[in-house]
Amino acid sequence: MAKDKKKVLKNNNILLGVTGGVAAYKSVDLIRRLKDEGASVTVIMTDASKNFITPLSLEIASGNKVYSSLFEDPMSHIALSRNADLMVIAPATANIIGKFANGIADDLLSTCILSFKGKVVIAPAMNWRMYENPIFQENLKRLISHGVIQVGPDKGSLACGEEGIGRMADISEVIEAIKSALSNKDLSKKKVIITAGPTREYLDPVRFISNRSSGKMGYAVARACLRRGADVILISGPSSLQSPQGLKSFVKVETAQEMRDAVFKYLPEADAVIMAAAPADFSPGKKEKTKMDKSEKLLVKFKNTPDILSGIGRLKRRPFLIGFAAETGDRLDKARKKLIQKNADMIVFNNVSSAGSGFDVDTNKITLIERDRETPFPLMSKDEAAEVLLEVIAKYLRKR
Ligand SMILES: Cc1cc2nc3c(=O)[nH]c(=O)nc-3n(C[C@H](O)[C@H](O)[C@H](O)COP(=O)(O)O)c2cc1C
Repeated sequence: MAKDKKKVLKNNNILLGVTGGVAAYKSVDLIRRLKDEGASVTVIMTDASKNFITPLSLEIASGNKVYSSLFEDPMSHIALSRNADLMVIAPATANIIGKFANGIADDLLSTCILSFKGKVVIAPAMNWRMYENPIFQENLKRLISHGVIQVGPDKGSLACGEEGIGRMADISEVIEAIKSALSNKDLSKKKVIITAGPTREYLDPVRFISNRSSGKMGYAVARACLRRGADVILISGPSSLQSPQGLKSFVKVETAQEMRDAVFKYLPEADAVIMAAAPADFSPGKKEKTKMDKSEKLLVKFKNTPDILSGIGRLKRRPFLIGFAAETGDRLDKARKKLIQKNADMIVFNNVSSAGSGFDVDTNKITLIERDRETPFPLMSKDEAAEVLLEVIAKYLRKR
């Protein structure tokens, strides 16, 4: 079946191994999220995992038969791995990691792992004492040296009541690792600067003007670049989002001037700059040193903040330059003008007043404006919008 370019996981067959750890219950959520992304999931359970979650739960979640016995269907250890695009072991016990690292095949899951030719993602989960055990660490290193992809574990409170490293990675991190494993690394060795979120322009130490940008679009673009193997520098205004794993640099800024300074610092090494941030366009001329008194009459004359996109557009030698144009109304004309006036290579237009599109929602409706064409897209998730955008950017960057 044809792969859908905007949905990385669509039509992929994922073979999920669930092993005997407390985090096994999380596999229901993992399966549901993978299916939401368009993947088909087949589960292999170890005998130990059935103490933590029932095969019926995983059968209902996946909509597929759950496998466990090596001998029930004698060819399943070959057929299941032959039909899979990717294997994921989540949670992965110390035991399965030890078996995998040493080529032991004594049940259906460990046998399928050995017969599988594609990429394997493991999400280790265990008590910190087990995780830090040097023999376990040697096993883990061995797997990584063979190209196995590890996601997590995180630090935090563990099921046994102790604190430490060993919690299974968040499901969203596991999904991101799966997407990355299935993505074409066509941006490897490319350096991409991405700006995201709003900026704050201060009136005094406690008051500022800003805008409704959440950073969701820029962070989605950063994840899409990371999946394709790029070195990503994310320069973010204030945002409550978790920074993606694997960034080369993560720079937190507050004001448009700080954002400009950070962009220009990294500019000489960049192949592309994607300006998904919504810097405040206006700033009060000066920031009061102390909190202004309520009784003071406030008359503020705003000045324009630095225009980062134009600043880069004017450079003689500059990276591939993508701007965003968030407009209220169907003002494609303004976005077209922006492309020319700012000397950008592409403008991503979105109408922030249309339903489900723009600030602080998980969806967006974008039109890509290039010099020689315009491509409108339907309403889609910001992750999908980032994928279609990167599909186009990657074509340009391959030629540079
Ligand atoms: C209550 C309980 C919780 C356990 N949790 C974990 C765990 O989180 N991680 C782990 O590696 N082993 C854990 N174990 C040990 C495994 O279940 C045991 O090593 C088992 O042999 C793993 O088999 P499997 O890898 O075939 O699933 C736990 C055992 C018990 C009794």
